[in-house]
Amino acid sequence: MSLHLLGLLCLVVVAARRAGALAATTLRVGYYSETCPDAEQVVRGVIRVAMAREPRSAASVMRLQFHDCFVNGCDASLLLDDTPEMTGEKEALSNVNSLRSYEVIDEVKEALERRCPGVVSCADIIIMAARDAVVLSGGPEWDVRLGREDSLTASQEDSNNIMPSPRANATSLIDLFAQFNLTVVDLVALSGSHSIGEARCFSIVFRLYNQSGSGRPDPHMDPQYREKLNELCPEGGDGNVTGGLDATPRAFDNQYFKDLVRLRGFLNSDQTLHSGGVRTTRQVVERFSRDQEAFFDAFVTGMIKMGELQSEKKGEIRRNCRVANDPHLRALRSEF
Ligand code: HEM
Ligand SMILES: *[C@@H]1O[C@H](CO)[C@@H](O)[C@H](O)[C@H]1NC(C)=O
Ligand SMILES: *[C@@H]1O[C@H](CO)[C@@H](O)[C@H](O)[C@H]1NC(C)=O
Ligand SMILES: *[C@@H]1O[C@H](CO)[C@@H](O)[C@H](O)[C@H]1NC(C)=O
Ligand SMILES: *[C@@H]1O[C@H](CO)[C@@H](O)[C@H](O)[C@H]1NC(C)=O
Repeated sequence: MSLHLLGLLCLVVVAARRAGALAATTLRVGYYSETCPDAEQVVRGVIRVAMAREPRSAASVMRLQFHDCFVNGCDASLLLDDTPEMTGEKEALSNVNSLRSYEVIDEVKEALERRCPGVVSCADIIIMAARDAVVLSGGPEWDVRLGREDSLTASQEDSNNIMPSPRANATSLIDLFAQFNLTVVDLVALSGSHSIGEARCFSIVFRLYNQSGSGRPDPHMDPQYREKLNELCPEGGDGNVTGGLDATPRAFDNQYFKDLVRLRGFLNSDQTLHSGGVRTTRQVVERFSRDQEAFFDAFVTGMIKMGELQSEKKGEIRRNCRVANDPHLRALRSEF
């Protein structure tokens, strides 16, 4: 190859890397098949052990994908601890006293660093772990495209501005998801992740006692279910007490949608998909309540789309998911 051609090729590659959005083309199934062939088995093994120790960790780990990917792409920015120069995402409104199982991701990272140091990104670990949590909870299996890089920084402000409140209504959720090119079907299917896991009384007391400032409960609640929630979450009680997001919070299934149809949704943001007066979300809820396979298929589509939201910025392979490798390099690169 002539030197000229080689130079041109380099230019094109550099230009493509700078263009950020083009990074999506580098994601592929089996990305680590040569550099860390056992990576996917290692991740699954650690998630299995974590779930045996604490069943809820499946849900907690899966949720990390949502909170990472919606804030400047799937770049493990969520995992960075605060530093004197940077306030990260862990203390953001939707995350503080709520996100959990960061230590499970650390365990995966440590296992992978022992086997193939400096190869597998924390961002990819979140994507693999989320998939594995679903599979090991009885949900669908799918292939994940890998090759993400880890961010050098994180932004609490961005998380606060983006992540939805449990008070959100169907219209505002549709608008939010549309900003990420996620459809109404994606929104409803991804909300079906609440088929596993728990939420705090803090997230529902407003709808139990003062929905939209009315001084009354949300009318879209089955009376028996409301009684149960009143008992779990009395007015002025401990906001950290948790309840299951659906009637089978360890099993990944379509029970969540059956519950919504019977007005037994836990969060306002769940029940609104059925009862918020929006025909499109309601139809999808009803379909998924009758057809678990349709839910599983749409969920996989949604997780892949959400999991491929890209960061605009250049990254690295972090050695420890909680800290950027080199703070000096970080300062230099943000100038660049
Ligand atoms: C549609 C908008 C969404 C809203 C408003 C929302 C809101 C919430 C809230 C308020 C909680 C409970 C927090 C607490 O009380 O501590 C929660 C839990 C959870 N969320 Fe979401 N969420 C949404 C979408 C998603 C998506 C897309 C996923 C993943 C694909 C997800 C996965 C989870 C899981 C698994 C839990 C339970 C976590 C655990 O038990 O530790 N959520 N969500
Ligand atoms: C939905 O929520 C948004 C944002 O909080 C609000 O502006 C809007 O009025 C609400 N829509 C309905 C139908 O309640
Ligand atoms: C959504 O799609 C449009 C058009 O294809 C694209 O320009 C935009 O970058 C996408 N947005 C996100 C967040 O992926
Ligand atoms: C209910 O909420 C409204 C508006 O947020 C507030 O003004 C009112 O004081 C609350 N009522 C009670 C009983 O807490
Ligand atoms: C829950 O517990 C945390 C940590 O102990 C505490 O800081 C927080 O105020 C509690 N939150 C609620 C809503 O009670």
